Amino acid sequence: MIRWIGRAFLLAALTGLVLTEDDPNYEVHFDGMEMIDGSDSYFNYNYTMDKKSETAFTVSGFITQLVLLDNTYKARFRLSRAPLDNPELYEEMLGLEKPLCEYMSSIYKMYFYETLKDISNFPHYDKCPLDPAEYWFKDYSFDADEYKAFMRDGHYKIEMYLVKGEDSVAGGLSKMRVEPVEGRK
Ligand SMILES: *[C@@H]1O[C@H](CO)[C@@H](O)[C@H](O)[C@H]1NC(C)=O
Repeated sequence: MIRWIGRAFLLAALTGLVLTEDDPNYEVHFDGMEMIDGSDSYFNYNYTMDKKSETAFTVSGFITQLVLLDNTYKARFRLSRAPLDNPELYEEMLGLEKPLCEYMSSIYKMYFYETLKDISNFPHYDKCPLDPAEYWFKDYSFDADEYKAFMRDGHYKIEMYLVKGEDSVAGGLSKMRVEPVEGRK
């Protein structure tokens, strides 16, 4: 989930959806993460986070995939933003939905695989369908500072779901807040 946050900003920046500022001085606050009901019949997971600085941390963990995932599933990704003073007013900035195997060979290949291959046993992008498996990842590092130049203040919501038919059956969302540093703007 943490990785998705980083990639979300990168994707948004690359597609020109985030306004850039000349001298951004933003702080990033994580406002939590939640999994949707039913996720635990697809995945079990645990993780530990190590804080390295105000904006940087590393995360390590395990994910057990409990069921066979084939191309009848879709992967859905959504990044939304709401103004700081109106946290309920989310607007979608980026939405992607693809059958699982196509997702693996495009989005996953382009944005996730390279950073993961040496620090995890996550599957190769050509592998699909995915048999039940135990995955681990170790010391994935994230530093919000790297994305500062692309940021715009607001509430952000990042959603990542596994979809069967029209329903999201597993996955979750995380929220973060990007605020100007007080006193400077
Ligand atoms: C996390 O899950 C893995 C794999 O299921 C297990 O071996 C490990 O003991 C778990 N760690 C914690 C802290 O629960």
